[in-house]
Formats: sequence, C-alpha cells, structure tokens
Amino acid sequence: MRYMSSWILAVAGLLVVSSPLSALQLGGRPAEDWAIVLESGRRIDGLEIDEVVSRIGLRPGELVADIGAGTGIFSVSLARAVGPTGTVLAMEVDPGFIPMIEQKAVAGGVDNIQTVLGEFQDPKLPRRDVDVAFFHDVIHHIQGRRAYLEATARYLGPGSRMVVVDYHGGHPRAPHRDQPELLITLPQVTAWMASAGFEMTQEFDLFEEKFFVVFTKRD
Ligand SMILES: C[S@@+](CC[C@H](N)C(=O)[O-])C[C@H]1O[C@@H](n2cnc3c(N)ncnc32)[C@H](O)[C@@H]1O
Repeated sequence: MRYMSSWILAVAGLLVVSSPLSALQLGGRPAEDWAIVLESGRRIDGLEIDEVVSRIGLRPGELVADIGAGTGIFSVSLARAVGPTGTVLAMEVDPGFIPMIEQKAVAGGVDNIQTVLGEFQDPKLPRRDVDVAFFHDVIHHIQGRRAYLEATARYLGPGSRMVVVDYHGGHPRAPHRDQPELLITLPQVTAWMASAGFEMTQEFDLFEEKFFVVFTKRD
C-alpha cells in the first residue's frame, strides 16, 4: 500500500514537472504559435494600441507592469508614455516570449522595458512600487484569477491602478465561445478586484466586444 501511494505520488509529480507551459493556463499554446495569432495584422488593426495607452493617462516616470505581455505589442507604447525616466516591466510566464519582447524594444527604439519571467500564480515582479498593472487580453487565460489579482496587488503602491481590457464573455464576437471556462464578465472582474483591494474608477466605451476598465487601489 505504502509502495502504491509513493508510486502514484511519483507519477503525479512527473506529470506536473513535464506539463507544457501551455497546459498551465487556460487556452494556452506555445509562444511561437501564439505569436502568429497575436501579431496578425487584422488583430493589431483592431487593438487601438495608442488610443488605449493614451486613455490610461500615464505620467512620465511611472512604473508600469505589462502583465502577460505576450510579444510586447503594448509594451513599447507604454514605454513611450512613461518616457525615459519611467519603466515598463514586461512580464510573461512563457520564456519563449522574452526575446520577442526584447526585439520589439530594440525595433521601437526604447530602452526602458525590463522583461520579467513570472510564475502562473504570482507575477514575481522585481519591485513593489508599481503604479499601473496593465492586463490586455490576459485575465481570461489565467487560472485562479482572484488569487492572481491578490498576488499582483502586493506589488502595487498607494494610489496605484490596475487596467483591464478583456472580452465580454457573453458577446457573440468573444473568442473561445466553445470553452466556457475562458469566458469572463465585467462583474466577475470587479468582484475579484474588490478582493484585491481595488475599486472601479473609470470605464471607457472604446470597444463593443471588450471592456476597458480602470481599478484604483482603495486607501
Ligand atoms: C492572448 S495573449 C495576450 C498577450 C498580450 N497581452 C497582447 O494583448 O498581445 C495572453 C497572454 O497571457 C499570458 N498568460 C497566461 N497565463 C498567465 C499568467 N498566469 N500570468 C501572466 N500571464 C499569463 C500568456 O503567456 C499570453 O502571452
């Protein structure tokens, strides 16, 4: 019996260790496959990158965390908005994205992007005075969203904000319609944010199929 249970534990451990990164998130895939989708011209045209970043109202010198930065599509625009005295922590869980983000920074002519390899339950940011955590098209991929936002909140300072752009789970143009575990709603995100100590302070009407919302840390 004792032999059986240690055998089961060993197999379970092996499965966890050998799980591909894409299996540790919802709807995940390897970075190189994902890059093709994320970088498609049709997707990029619809993202309104500069408009989104401009509406966040970043100030020079601020510290921004681009959580789940992917290939870094938003990181360069965020880096320009905070200027040379500010910093963008471009955080990813998949190391395959890190060189892609670094290439984007070089191509975009910015040197204030610092890449961060985080964990699935904790972004492991190197600083605890983050002004803005930015989640674009990310929260619906995260397992354990409430706990993840609570973990992220520990890296944010007083007066900080979390900005979320994500799909209305009920919208007919939301992706992953056949995977209910990937569909989230704004009321759910608002409740998870409340657990993390953040309340909704701004909502922008920029997209039909996505919400674009700012949450501010409660005093
Ligand atoms: C659809 S992509 C969006 C990438 C980028 N934000 C964009 O809009 O182009 C979702 C990203 O979330 C990342 N991700 C998944 N689980 C995560 C987690 N627990 N913490 C941080 N990022 C995560 C994935 O690696 C992936 O790059």
